[in-house]
Amino acid sequence: MQKKARFAQKLLKWHQHQNFRQMPWKGEKDPYRIWLSEVILQQTRVEQGWAYYEKFVSAFPTVHDLATASEQFVFKLWEGLGYYNRCRNLMATAKRIDSEYYGRFPTTYEEILTLKGIGPYTAAAIASFAYNLPHAVVDGNVTRVLSRYFGISTPIDTTAGKKEYAEMAEMLLDKQRAGIYNQAIMDFGATVCTPRNPQCASCVQQPDCQAWQKGLTGQLPIKEKSIIRKRRCLYYFIVETPDDKVYIRQRSGKDIWAGLYEFILFETPEPVWPSAILESEFARQLFEGQALTARYISRTYQQELTHQSLQGQFITVRLDRPLSGLGDYMLVPKRRLKEYAFPKFINAWLQDPTPAQSLF
Ligand code: ADE
Repeated sequence: MQKKARFAQKLLKWHQHQNFRQMPWKGEKDPYRIWLSEVILQQTRVEQGWAYYEKFVSAFPTVHDLATASEQFVFKLWEGLGYYNRCRNLMATAKRIDSEYYGRFPTTYEEILTLKGIGPYTAAAIASFAYNLPHAVVDGNVTRVLSRYFGISTPIDTTAGKKEYAEMAEMLLDKQRAGIYNQAIMDFGATVCTPRNPQCASCVQQPDCQAWQKGLTGQLPIKEKSIIRKRRCLYYFIVETPDDKVYIRQRSGKDIWAGLYEFILFETPEPVWPSAILESEFARQLFEGQALTARYISRTYQQELTHQSLQGQFITVRLDRPLSGLGDYMLVPKRRLKEYAFPKFINAWLQDPTPAQSLF
């Protein structure tokens, strides 16, 4: 038997007898639920995504329920998952399926691929899991498995690499059992052929694995570029009024966190001393010469995104009277803040605003 046929056969056998990975969407046939799980898992680990999937399925049992839900409620359920474009696309796609397809999920790979937020990977997952259509999934798990098994050193993050891995994945796919095969290779990559400490000693593919034979498991797959992250320093003013309200606004545009809420933001490309922030032109204009009481500054919070490195502090200020000229900011009672969806960066502070240090 050829090596590639052996790969698929051993993979399916492993799946049948040795794959004990359980997940709520496994074996699911409803394309709507599969889509939900795949979108949640696009940039989120299974352990974290699990509870969100269950929350979404119970809040919105059908596409129609999601399509007709309020944006604020959907965002609130998504809160903490990050990469909010996924959530915006989810809502846009639910609305499109509800109106254009009368609430029934499209049934061909090509139509599924036209939906917002669905790329070749997610389209292949939905088409194969729901309808057993012969499309191979290609994600980080799959490229790692293929790169090691076949000893391919083409970098996975290049155009040539993506093409090569996609062609190889299509060629290996068991077209009669596309759904089962795709789930098997994902689980195999996630539990056996893992990025670090792969389970080579007990691996069923070991006798044919090029990386194993050449001692290259630790080196493969190869990535060409390491990402350079842009630094952003975010200083948030929590401006409280005497009647216990604070200013927040909804972010918009193409930047991170569009649709989520935030406090009054002063952003710089480099860190600034707290005293310099309070003496800045920004603060002078913001506070209109008002005397400030109870000025506190938080510790520095940090968050790494794929292309950005965020750091920042929260500065709490109490005022005698409300501010004028704050354009898109609105005043909301502090006790109602929990109704708004904030980025994880801000929630980290909201949930634990200490240790704070007085600025006086
Ligand atoms: N990651 C994305 N989709 C998955 C799935 N269906 N099973 C396991 N891991 C996944």
